[in-house]
Amino acid sequence: MSASLSRRKFLGGAASAGAGVCLGLASARGADKPAKAAVKTTAKASVEWPLSDAREETALLDVLHSGKWGRTSGGAKVKEFEALWAQRMGAKHCVATASGTTALLTALGALNVGPGDEVIMPPYTFVATFNAITVNFALPVFVDSDAATFQIDARKIAAAITPATKLLLPVHIAGSTCDLDTIAAVAQEKKVTLIEDACQAPLAEWRGRPVGTRGLGGCFSFQASKNLTSGEGGAVLTNDDAFAAACYDYHTPGNGKKSPSWGRGANFRLTEFQAALLAAQYTRLEAQAKSRDANAAYLSSLLEKIPGISPAKLADGNNRSAWHLYMFRYDATRFAGLSRAKFLEALTKAGVAASSGYTSLNTSAHVKALADNPHYQRIYGKAAMAGWVDRNQCPVNDKLVNEAVWFSQTKLLGARSDMERMAEAIAGVQKRAGELAKV
Ligand SMILES: Cc1ncc(COP(=O)(O)O)c(C=O)c1O
Repeated sequence: MSASLSRRKFLGGAASAGAGVCLGLASARGADKPAKAAVKTTAKASVEWPLSDAREETALLDVLHSGKWGRTSGGAKVKEFEALWAQRMGAKHCVATASGTTALLTALGALNVGPGDEVIMPPYTFVATFNAITVNFALPVFVDSDAATFQIDARKIAAAITPATKLLLPVHIAGSTCDLDTIAAVAQEKKVTLIEDACQAPLAEWRGRPVGTRGLGGCFSFQASKNLTSGEGGAVLTNDDAFAAACYDYHTPGNGKKSPSWGRGANFRLTEFQAALLAAQYTRLEAQAKSRDANAAYLSSLLEKIPGISPAKLADGNNRSAWHLYMFRYDATRFAGLSRAKFLEALTKAGVAASSGYTSLNTSAHVKALADNPHYQRIYGKAAMAGWVDRNQCPVNDKLVNEAVWFSQTKLLGARSDMERMAEAIAGVQKRAGELAKV
């Protein structure tokens, strides 16, 4: 199973009994099922995901019976969701898309990113960030991670910029944010466009301002594991009128605003069903975010006391994380040499499912294969592509991918006592580490 698949399974497969207790989340999938508030949450339980109740049923049935299932058939739901999301995130415009990937493709397409262009990105991200660049035959340039925050090391971006750099595409990984002050300053100084990959970061904030509009725009994902979900879905946010219009036309050629509206692009439209689902899901988003905020802070206060466990720090200025993932570094030397794989196994046996997260993207076979791609060899030259593989080294990230441990966002929707049980489970593994390492 590929790393990305296993990650998706981990993030999307949190469904199990229990939870919803602290928020009164009305987590029953059908309105006729009893609420689960009486179920005692244990460290074994994660909140089932996604949550749904009569709100989703009504919203979906409304669209069904309207007969207006797509934005091109005159439905209002996509438009309404775009207005809602733009307003909540403090953006002037939102273009809803079929996924986070197509949000990125829309943004890059509207900017006409193409062959010969370099795009700066982090190595610690989902493969979709890389693919959005390479689908356009542009060249991804990796800038190493910051070990403390897991985010792109903003201090290293300026050195990676060349005359061919068309775009900075930093990622707000785990729903925390990268250092937007430094990145925006570099973008401005070097006159390079900035688009935030905020696919994991709905409601995240930098110095009190929601992410997504610090540069030209930002891209969001509403895929099944995400904090705001319609199974699949995405959005581009921007304050720029011309870019918004270009994104709109790119995501719906033939039905765009320009006349004639045939242009470069593809059908990346969100459906009315998805927009209706998102509006219903949105009614729980803020309460869930508050739960994640409080539980993550409490969990960090507990885990910081365990030698060898280092929770990912928020960059100075990142006053709110979306907590799509809760990440920490595991130092095996403080666990009697117990390997991370065995640590995760023991944690899972103790009822606390955790993941090792991303494997190394920049040194993966998928990334290396780009050097052998005939189109890339033709555009950039064979020698340059071989050199590109050598330039993809990210030593800090190499260490990070071997030390990282993730909890999914659903764990942070449990009760405060669940955080204690998670920390106790880790401390328990540490106590038995010597004996577990021998097995
Ligand atoms: C950082 C990042 N970028 C892009 C994407 C792509 O989003 P989607 O899966 O909705 O296409 C994801 C989704 O997991 C992501 O985590």
